[in-house]
Amino acid sequence: MDQITAVCKRLAAAKSLTVLSGAGISAESGIPTFRGEEGLWNKHRAEDLATPEAFRRDPELVWAWYQWRRTLIAQKQPNAAHDALVSLERRLAAFTLITQNVDGLHERAGSRSMIELHGNIWRMRCTGCGLKTESEAALPALPSCASCHGLLRPDIVWFGEAVDPDHLIRSLNACRDADVMLVIGTSGVVQPAASFASVAKEAGAFIVEINPVPSLSNLADRVFAEKAAVLLPKIV
Ligand code: APR
Repeated sequence: MDQITAVCKRLAAAKSLTVLSGAGISAESGIPTFRGEEGLWNKHRAEDLATPEAFRRDPELVWAWYQWRRTLIAQKQPNAAHDALVSLERRLAAFTLITQNVDGLHERAGSRSMIELHGNIWRMRCTGCGLKTESEAALPALPSCASCHGLLRPDIVWFGEAVDPDHLIRSLNACRDADVMLVIGTSGVVQPAASFASVAKEAGAFIVEINPVPSLSNLADRVFAEKAAVLLPKIV
């Protein structure tokens, strides 16, 4: 039996499917990943931009980088991998998508049962009163809160910051409950997401990795060293 058929049989028999996605699932939408040869971090040091210290030191620089990323993402579309996950969500009773991506493409594709573990680039949070707002429009260099005039920041989890405890609990529960877990397009270097596959494995899940440069090594039961937008539609 070929690998794809084996995975399809597992999915057909699965009562619950959990998916972890990383930047690689948006690569074929034309959004650069963080650590590949074209990776975003290659041009900028993470310490210079995606940290609370960087924002305190130079909020205009950090906002300029996020405005550039927002402008880039706004021109892109979800790809066949995003669409394939929407099909799987509609066909499995219990489905949870945990995404590390902040680009909003899963939501635009139609994913609903989703945990945005690292936040969302279209959402801002006031550093003064905590009010959250969404906006896809171009923002001023230093956007301020309509309610308290405090400085707005991207509602994204930066290096050195903790993920939302509720997101973490829900993610761990989804990993423990999964019959099958798909790990798609992540280099598996950033915690806590990098531990989710082993949590699922220990709880008995069948682990499938889809990544041209696999990162799960012996944790995965099936590895497809292929592009997500090529392989996922085949599975669906
Ligand atoms: N299909 C599937 N996987 C792909 C594709 C593709 N077409 N193209 C690249 N990849 C894989 C790469 O091989 C790499 O393993 O996607 C992965 C992208 O890894 P990273 O750039 O490190 O992205 P990610 O794992 O999501 O980073 C985690 O780090 O920078 C922080 O908060 C940021 O959420 C991000 C986190």
